[in-house]
Amino acid sequence: MAFLFNSDAARARIFAAEFARELPRLPFVTDAQSVAPEDVRYLLTWTAPDDLKRYTNLEVLFSIGAGVDQFDVQALPDSVKLVRMVEDGIVRMMQEYVTLAVLALHRDLPGYLAQQQQGVWKSRPVRQAPDQRVGVLGLGLLGKAVLERLGPFGFSLAGWSRSPREIEGVACFHGEDQLDTFLARTDILICLLPLTPQTRGLLNTDLFSKLPAGASLIHAGRGPQLDQQALIDALDSGHLSGAVLDVTDPEPLPASDPLWQHPRIILTPHIASVTQPETAAKAVIANIHRHEAGQDPIGLIDRKRGY
Ligand code: NDP
Ligand code: OXD
Repeated sequence: MAFLFNSDAARARIFAAEFARELPRLPFVTDAQSVAPEDVRYLLTWTAPDDLKRYTNLEVLFSIGAGVDQFDVQALPDSVKLVRMVEDGIVRMMQEYVTLAVLALHRDLPGYLAQQQQGVWKSRPVRQAPDQRVGVLGLGLLGKAVLERLGPFGFSLAGWSRSPREIEGVACFHGEDQLDTFLARTDILICLLPLTPQTRGLLNTDLFSKLPAGASLIHAGRGPQLDQQALIDALDSGHLSGAVLDVTDPEPLPASDPLWQHPRIILTPHIASVTQPETAAKAVIANIHRHEAGQDPIGLIDRKRGY
């Protein structure tokens, strides 16, 4: 029985030390050639290797990231549990990133950056926080954590999910039927949805048209959820006032892409949150214990839902 780790060397060192301390009975392997494929019970990786089928006794496939859209879920044997990364580092970093982005849009940082380029010393209109309606698409682990962190600023908060949710201090909407109502009351829209067939292309011209004039977007979900040209059109027409994008399609974004140069867009290279090996190793080990005890691992993907 072995745990096969397929990620970078720096993370491997931290994981190996944690496994040696907390789970010494389970061989921790970083070189796939050094283990008999039938001995691999657990695999941690970003994408599934082409030769996944050789791991005939694989029980759990751990994603090193929170998303699992990079896997061909249908191609995985039914016997393999697919588990996304649920660990404190990802949550904390996403809270930081979205707070940074909300405040940047709330205080019109894109406008001031443009003024700085032109040497313009001029104050711009500012809404007070209770009048700023912030809405999060996705009320999962990250959406909820972000809303919790935004609470003390006093924004008017809302969220949208697939199934009904209740969060104190947050107006919760769900399902396609309630999407338009949610959008109509959202000035700063944050996307923290997983990429599924239902969410692919969701951020499009039609959706933008349902936001109030002057609204803005923070996109930290997945690139293919956004119609990039629709965003540029909505910004150029003045209907949207700004955007902060952490994810694009493709990634890396080609240097010639107009998103880079757009004066109302702040762009970061998919760094909103990054798996932290110290906390991730603990989370994975805890999940191995759960699995061995016959419990579902935390972050188990529901294959029908796709997240
Ligand atoms: P969760 O699985 O915990 O939550 C997903 C949320 O999205 C749930 O509230 C779910 O609804 C909702 N949802 C899914 N499909 C739909 C739909 N069709 N309509 C309405 N709501 C829907 O995921 P996380 O919060 O952990 O992560 C979300 C995503 O963030 C990841 O999948 C990944 O793509 C992205 N991410 C980006 C990072 C970055 O650095 N940019 C880093 C980490 C993650 P319900 O509550 O009803 O199930
Ligand atoms: C993730 C990501 O899914 O970094 O963890 O996007």
